[in-house]
Amino acid sequence: MIQNVGNKAFILSTPKTAYAFALLPTGHLEHLYYGAPLQLGGPSGFIDEASAEGSCLLAALEPLREKHAFAPGTSVIYDQGHPQYSLDDMRLEYSAPGKGDLRDPALELTNADGSLSSDFIFESAEIIGEKLPFKALPGSYSEEGDAQQLCVSFLDKENKLKLELCYYVFEDCDVISRSARLVNLGDEPVSVRRIMSLQLDLDRPGYVFTGFTGAWAREMQRTDTLLNAGRYSLGSRSGASSHRANPFVMLHPSDTTEDRGEVYGFNLIYSGNHLESAEVSPFGKTRFMTGINPEGFGWTLQPGEDFEAPEAVMAWSSDGFNGLSRSMHRFVREHIIRGEWKHKDRPVLLNSWEAAYFDISESRLMKLAKAGKDAGIELFVMDDGWFGERNDDTSSLGDWNVNKKKLPGGLKGLADKINALGMDFGIWVEPEMISEKSELYRKHPNWAMQIPGKDHSEGRNQRILDLANPAVQDFIIDKMSEVFSSANISYVKWDMNRPFSDAFSPWLAAQNAAAEEARPLRGQSETPHRYIMGLYRIMKELTARHPHILFEGCASGGNRFDLGILSYFPQIWASDDTDALARGFIQTGYSYGYPMSCVSAHVSARPNHQTLRNTPLETRFGVAAFGIFGYEMNFADLPAEAMNAIKVQIELYKKWRSVLQWGDFYRGRSFGSMPVSGVSAGASAGIPGAGNILEWTVVSSDRSKAVGIIMQNQVLPNWQFHSYFPKGLDPAGIYLLYGRKRKFDLRNFGDLVNTVAPVHIKSESQIHHILARFVKMDGETEECISSGAALMNGGLHMKQAFGGTGYSEEVRYFQDYACRMYFIERSE
Ligand code: GLA
Repeated sequence: MIQNVGNKAFILSTPKTAYAFALLPTGHLEHLYYGAPLQLGGPSGFIDEASAEGSCLLAALEPLREKHAFAPGTSVIYDQGHPQYSLDDMRLEYSAPGKGDLRDPALELTNADGSLSSDFIFESAEIIGEKLPFKALPGSYSEEGDAQQLCVSFLDKENKLKLELCYYVFEDCDVISRSARLVNLGDEPVSVRRIMSLQLDLDRPGYVFTGFTGAWAREMQRTDTLLNAGRYSLGSRSGASSHRANPFVMLHPSDTTEDRGEVYGFNLIYSGNHLESAEVSPFGKTRFMTGINPEGFGWTLQPGEDFEAPEAVMAWSSDGFNGLSRSMHRFVREHIIRGEWKHKDRPVLLNSWEAAYFDISESRLMKLAKAGKDAGIELFVMDDGWFGERNDDTSSLGDWNVNKKKLPGGLKGLADKINALGMDFGIWVEPEMISEKSELYRKHPNWAMQIPGKDHSEGRNQRILDLANPAVQDFIIDKMSEVFSSANISYVKWDMNRPFSDAFSPWLAAQNAAAEEARPLRGQSETPHRYIMGLYRIMKELTARHPHILFEGCASGGNRFDLGILSYFPQIWASDDTDALARGFIQTGYSYGYPMSCVSAHVSARPNHQTLRNTPLETRFGVAAFGIFGYEMNFADLPAEAMNAIKVQIELYKKWRSVLQWGDFYRGRSFGSMPVSGVSAGASAGIPGAGNILEWTVVSSDRSKAVGIIMQNQVLPNWQFHSYFPKGLDPAGIYLLYGRKRKFDLRNFGDLVNTVAPVHIKSESQIHHILARFVKMDGETEECISSGAALMNGGLHMKQAFGGTGYSEEVRYFQDYACRMYFIERSE
């Protein structure tokens, strides 16, 4: 609900949150409040301030306003008419420099006269019944038309500029999003140096800024930083939203836990360079901002033009991080993901990359596909290596024509054969790139981003196409459409494998040369944002032309995992790291801000190709099953025993797919982040097993079914009792909880076999291996019926773990990286 009290105060409410701001006598907007509902009553919409309801609401907001009698010492007084106000010590909805606020501004311009001061004063406000569709940039949407919008307009009269702040209220998920738009009403160009999407001025210091930082194969590691003074920021300058720092961040008191305490969460619907910053002022106020990274950014706003900042998302919860995550998950699922796949079950896939890398051919792929079919795979994906002369990563990007030596029947020939096996077929592409060794580069060298006449730095032996150029956008749209229509393609993995360097758009330079009279010239600091706008145009067009295709985003794994990509592609390859332990960290990181229905995860070979770590197949399955599930390993080479186990896994996954893909996700204890700097954040300190145990539970929306996993990092000697605590069940519901009956390889017990064998068996000897074929060690299992409350509060006390004193089927074989999955069904 949105209330506009006579253009004097504004209250945005969702069932569990409220956000309020009010007009200051100076004409600026004072931020009053963001948190639990205010319960002030009154109708929705415009409320006359003179009416009983209006005056009542204004009076009720009075305690939330700061009372200013004199400006602080040595501060700049805003104007003679308001000597008590210094903007430096006000909580502002949006700030600009030059009039006394010395903190980081949200907006920074160079005006037509070269001056740097801005002063935007309230003009009007309008409530719009539904969320308007976005223009150039993606944004949230509402299918039911139930998201309300408040647009507030400001004018900088002296500099002839209009600023619009829009607020969108999503009641179903307790989310409010915001955006900002600047319009040049004057006759001279204006230079935009910074235009942030969201500013939130909170009235105290001491928040913990939680971000998710990382690197290739180590994405989304939680990082907690306490803010008492100065400025802290995370962001990206790589051209993509990046694995260095995801745009999703949180602010919270230091005692907030997974299920208790307050937390603010923020995200940005943008895939390029971004910045999230928090600054504690000398007066102890915290200013949070998110938007396009001003470093390396600049934009020339010609007369009559406007600039839209990307939409930013915010939520508040008093139910800890899990409470916030549930709001964010619902928001992403309902108001970001679009199209046919929004609520459609995702198929179990098999991807060729870690199975064969570039060494693919029709016969090799068919062998893999047949093994996949036998195991229950539904979608077969051919990864890199199928086009041009692509035998390694040094060539052919841009030449999207099938390599007939590898695939004599073309894409269609292979797709038909895969379809005949009863599986869907998908491919890998990396359309934003161009190899110097390619036909495309020979034909169109000026389509690559590069500074004419200067050496270019490379990443993965490839260049980035100049997506600012409409001709390049058209080429990608047409060429990809041709590829996607050339066979029965049901899935596309869209990759992007290098950061920007020498970011220069030859097209923009040519535009400048052609428009001599348009001064000042459009600088190359526009290029990164123009690239992202070009990318969005391409994605929008291709997803509209091919609505049946399931698109999966990828950028060397999670180097561009953000709400901009998710506005077009419903899922993203979360990391090139498929190691189950690493994924335990990485997927936990994603789960704070993103639903598992967009986090793609595969079971891969052992030892793992990124870490050379050996983890049990059961754990690789369990961890991947909580994301969008598939396999990426050479099935054709696996022993029958492993293939049988995989077949059982896939059957089980299909049975529980709808709960796993669409249920509500809860974090229990976490490993915390990988302790890269000796510090691990988020490891549920003070709880037994903290940092060594991971627990996830996913619960169907009617709370009738749930799946849980408990995983251990390292065995703690003589630590034999573990409990699994499910979450999200109906406390009063009666549930059947059960595990899987499993058998373990005798060789896992090494020469302990001699404690029971009638004859001596040398460990790893021929006889040991032969024996292991026939003798399996029975494992423990669990089965119980209890109430949701008992299970959630008391926990399932699992059978005793092996502790060096004896083994039977009443003992849990729980080695390093082991897990147990539990299945929970309401039993009334
Ligand atoms: C990137 C992706 C991988 C794989 C390779 C192919 O690294 O993240 O999954 O597709 O490219 O070259």
